[in-house]
Formats: sequence, structure tokens, C-alpha cells
Amino acid sequence: MKFFIDTANLAQIKEAQELGVLDGVTTNPSLMAKEGITGRDNILKHYVDICNIVDGDVSAEVISTDFEGMIKEGEELASLHEQIVVKLPMIKDGVKACKYFSDKGIRTNVTLVFSAGQALLAAKAGATYVSPFIGRLDDISTDGLNLIAEIRLIYDNYGFETQILAASVRHTMHVIDCAKLGADVMTGGLSSIEGLLKHPLTDIGLAKFLEDYKKGN
Ligand code: E4P
Repeated sequence: MKFFIDTANLAQIKEAQELGVLDGVTTNPSLMAKEGITGRDNILKHYVDICNIVDGDVSAEVISTDFEGMIKEGEELASLHEQIVVKLPMIKDGVKACKYFSDKGIRTNVTLVFSAGQALLAAKAGATYVSPFIGRLDDISTDGLNLIAEIRLIYDNYGFETQILAASVRHTMHVIDCAKLGADVMTGGLSSIEGLLKHPLTDIGLAKFLEDYKKGN
């Protein structure tokens, strides 16, 4: 399972990269705004800064909602760095743009996916990644993890190569459950990754080992 971090915060990206388990980064316009990154030039520069920190795919989202606009923007984003994956919304023109980019060998991440039908369409259009937002489904009393299971079944039935990128991951149990269900990738905050480290028996055991070592030396 690949681990992506879902942030535009360079310090957090560095921290996850230094841990040695990071496979990529996802961003979105809200995450950029949260870091105070505004204006086209600053946003483009920030994507390059992220690519220079991480070894792996970096999703950069288009703002346009029409086919021509998405193509223009997506091509500009893809030309920034070889690690860039063009992130497209799951709308009609987004599906068309996904097919266009996939035919040209430009990698894509179809985002804002909330149903198995949408995931099927993204795979048919040749998406590299599909991003089902499990946390946002959980927020409205719908089982986000069940969507991961449905998409896994459908993709395996037909051998689709589109990778399931479990998005809107909110905590460590989401990560573990997505791994059990066979999601190819998960993207979440640094805390959802670092939370995997924690176990009280590890801390108690280590304290005891160190104490016993001191006694004998
Ligand atoms: C995915 O690519 C999105 O950036 C993200 O996972 C959305 O998460 P949220 O629901 O926590 O905003």
C-alpha cells in the first residue's frame, strides 16, 4: 500500500518524507489556501517545491470545470515536473479530460468520487488514480469503507489498472481498514501516518529494556 500525505504544508511533507515511508502527496485548492498559497504563479511554484521534497507522485488539481480549460491547465501542470499527476473533478468534462490525458500518457487522479459508478467511469476513462473520499461519506452517515470494498471488487472483476487512492482519510483506523480492503494508496494527514507507530506495550517494553540495561552496566 502506498502512503500519500494530504497537505500543502512543506514542513509536514518533509517530516513524512524523512520518516522514509512516503510515496507521494495530494493537494487540493482548499489545502493550498490553508497554507496561504494564492495566485497562479505562487501555486505553480509551490507544486515544484513539493516535488523537490518528495520522491513520488504529486497530485495538482485543475480549477477549470470545462474540457478546454482543464486541458490547458492540466498540460501546464504536467509540464511543471515529471512527478505531477493532474487531478480532475468527477464531472462530465473531467471524465473527457481524463480520457484525453490518459491517451497522451499524462497521469491523472480523478477526485471527488463518492460512488462505485463514478469509480467505474474513471477507470473506463483510463485514470491512473481514483479518489473515493471516505471521510466525507462517513461524515454523512454513509459507510466510506464500503465504497472502497465495492470499487476493489469491480476493478478486480475486470482487471482495471486504475489505482484506488483512499482519500479523505481522517485517522489511523481508516488507514488499517483501507489496507485490509486492498486500497492501493491512502492519503491522509501526518497524524494518520504517525498514529500507526503508537502502542503502549512498545513504550512500556522499551522503558523496561533500557532500565534493565542500566542495571547491568
Ligand atoms: C484528496 O485528494 C483530498 O485532498 C482530501 O483527501 C480531502 O480530504 P478532506 O475530506 O479531509 O478534506
